[in-house]
Amino acid sequence: MSLFITFEGPEGSGKTTQIRLLENFLKACEFAILVTREPGGTRIGNAIRAIVLDANHTEMSPRAEVLLFNAARAQIVDEVIRPALSNGRIVLCDRYADSTLAYQGYGHGQDLAWLRRIINFATAGLQPDLTIFLNIDPDEGLGRKQSGAAEEWNRMEQKALAFHQTVRQGYLQLAAAEPARWLVVDATQSIEAIHATIQQRVALLLATGLGRKG
Ligand code: TYD
Repeated sequence: MSLFITFEGPEGSGKTTQIRLLENFLKACEFAILVTREPGGTRIGNAIRAIVLDANHTEMSPRAEVLLFNAARAQIVDEVIRPALSNGRIVLCDRYADSTLAYQGYGHGQDLAWLRRIINFATAGLQPDLTIFLNIDPDEGLGRKQSGAAEEWNRMEQKALAFHQTVRQGYLQLAAAEPARWLVVDATQSIEAIHATIQQRVALLLATGLGRKG
């Protein structure tokens, strides 16, 4: 049996820490694990990552952005994720298709129906068995300073914050629409408490054999 588990959440939500803790738990149970991330995870994906996340690329067309994230996704699905699942591994992926829906869709206002079609093409229909959303107010997640800054700085930060709030609401809508796939975890809790919640859900999936057969 294999499992495909994805992690979503804002910067500072503790995704990396929680992925590592889950990886350690599953390794201790003698499962074969593969940990990867998006955008990236392959040579081609990392080259795309450098293009799509380059802060100098201010002229990037929103549609080009969508296609670049999804080009990297197609590559990691074909080169890494599907082969690992076929080999009976548990794949833990830091971000996946829901990031495109949350950031490019809800965040940047790209049409969700189009995005779903593009994602479907990029992934050839591969959906996670479980998606863990580390739910935290982006303000808290980003650890912003609220006082003492210049007015201009605050305005810019406020804009950024509004974007991240919209992204968060997008994630919550996605989770509400597909509750069986999503685990929404209160990421203001302690690292241990968050891990315990995640571990419990994953253990349940494994015990009930709800992963992919293979
Ligand atoms: P990264 O440095 O990996 O940040 P994080 O630690 O938050 O995962 O940067 C990835 C950024 O790209 C992050 O801001 C989310 C964004 N992103 C999208 O906008 N769309 C996507 O499809 C993906 C995969 C990521």
